[in-house]
Amino acid sequence: MGDFLLALGRRPGARRVVKQLGVPLPLPVPLARADGPWAERPLDGQSIYVAPGPLDAVVATTLGAAGATVSLAGGATSGPFAAAAAAWGRPVADVTAGDRPHAVVVDLTGAVDPADLRVAYDALHPVVRSVRGCGRVVVLARPAETATSARIAATRHALDGFVRSLAKEVGARGVTANLVAVDEGAEDRVEATLRFFMSARSAFVTGQRVRVRALVPAGPPRQVRPLDGQTVLVTGAARGIGAATARALAREGARVLVLDRPEDDAPASKVAHELRGGLILADLAHPDAPADVARAVASHGGVDAIIHNAGVTRDRTLANMDEARWDTVLRVNLGVVVELTSALSPHLRDGGRIVCLASIAGLAGNVGQTNYAASKAGILAYVPALAAELAPRGIGVSGVAPGFIETRLTAAIPLATREAGRRLAALGQGGQPEDVAEVIVYLASPAGGASSGEVLRVCGGAFLGR
Ligand code: NAI
Repeated sequence: MGDFLLALGRRPGARRVVKQLGVPLPLPVPLARADGPWAERPLDGQSIYVAPGPLDAVVATTLGAAGATVSLAGGATSGPFAAAAAAWGRPVADVTAGDRPHAVVVDLTGAVDPADLRVAYDALHPVVRSVRGCGRVVVLARPAETATSARIAATRHALDGFVRSLAKEVGARGVTANLVAVDEGAEDRVEATLRFFMSARSAFVTGQRVRVRALVPAGPPRQVRPLDGQTVLVTGAARGIGAATARALAREGARVLVLDRPEDDAPASKVAHELRGGLILADLAHPDAPADVARAVASHGGVDAIIHNAGVTRDRTLANMDEARWDTVLRVNLGVVVELTSALSPHLRDGGRIVCLASIAGLAGNVGQTNYAASKAGILAYVPALAAELAPRGIGVSGVAPGFIETRLTAAIPLATREAGRRLAALGQGGQPEDVAEVIVYLASPAGGASSGEVLRVCGGAFLGR
């Protein structure tokens, strides 16, 4: 069953009536999503308020090239913002009362002492209420992990809590707040990450920290059709998140190999046919699957990226769980991911990408999901470890941990739990398969190498787990 409150929220009349009646009904805001392929200027016509800092040069170039107009306190007559404004013919505006920015970027990469955190308050307190619906707040920082003292680590990590809370405060209006933690030496990767997090493609990512690293070489900067000429394998692509991902990858230029179970021949063939991709029918639970799939992939000339998406739930409390439920979930969601990666390793080109589907259940745990949460928690550790192993080949490995996404998997959840799953999110709704697909495309793209080793939550700010 669809989301009744979201459907109601789409009708301005209903919204007005609910407000007039004073009914405490939290009608979620329909999220603004991107409706076409990656564009040269995803922020065209947007006005963005910037609190400047050490990364001014990259922030100015990124926003200017993406089509935005920047507002700075006091405007800018010189420096990187003035130069970018001149290059793209969009003068830097002064921040004036009554402005309604589409987004705010706060550069706190220079913060080294708790007192420096005041910048976050000073920059956002006056404007946060006026950020437009479905707008963006991005805080740039350095990772706590690379801090050279306890004082600096505390300062940096404080921003994590700041952004998580802010995401909750602004989520009801569809606004997202994220923290981009940039490693020293990875500044040249910020542009692609910032473009993604400022754009409508990250509509269901909020309250998250993403680390920008230089673990693998940056791919060639491609603002449009980032996957042109690449072949990508997507497991479990007959429906749900897998099918949405296959479509999004094809939209960005990839040839997609659609893999699903033999009994799902009809829906899998339909997706493969629609995308003019390849079809691989294999039951991943079968012990021969990794070798069979490797042979099939080799016959397609190898791949540039693998999306380990196939997954199953077989919920029961541990006391009531039969062996088959345990074995199937651990096998399909974790065991085969490890085996298939090894079997495909010779057929995955250097510089390629691997994206694994985890789940916030792997972070928080759920009653009745000891098997599922174990399998997904395994993925959470597999991603950074594999990223380190494959870095010498320039292969980027990342993960996505979806929250509540509207698919067959979640349609099977009892109604009350399903409603709770939706409303727990800061954005007050479940995500769409396309929301996860957009993040996977970004991670599978050359630019996504900046997030190698990272697992990104796509949960609308469902604050379950870490
Ligand atoms: P879905 O049930 O709609 O699609 C999963 C696909 O995997 C199906 O097409 C299915 O046939 C395929 N599959 C299952 N077992 C297979 C096997 N043995 N061999 C080959 N293919 C197999 O599920 P959904 O929601 O699209 O999930 C996709 C991934 O996202 C899964 O890994 C799931 O655990 C993960 N996820 C989904 C969430 C959600 O809210 N929908 C939340 C968190 C994670």
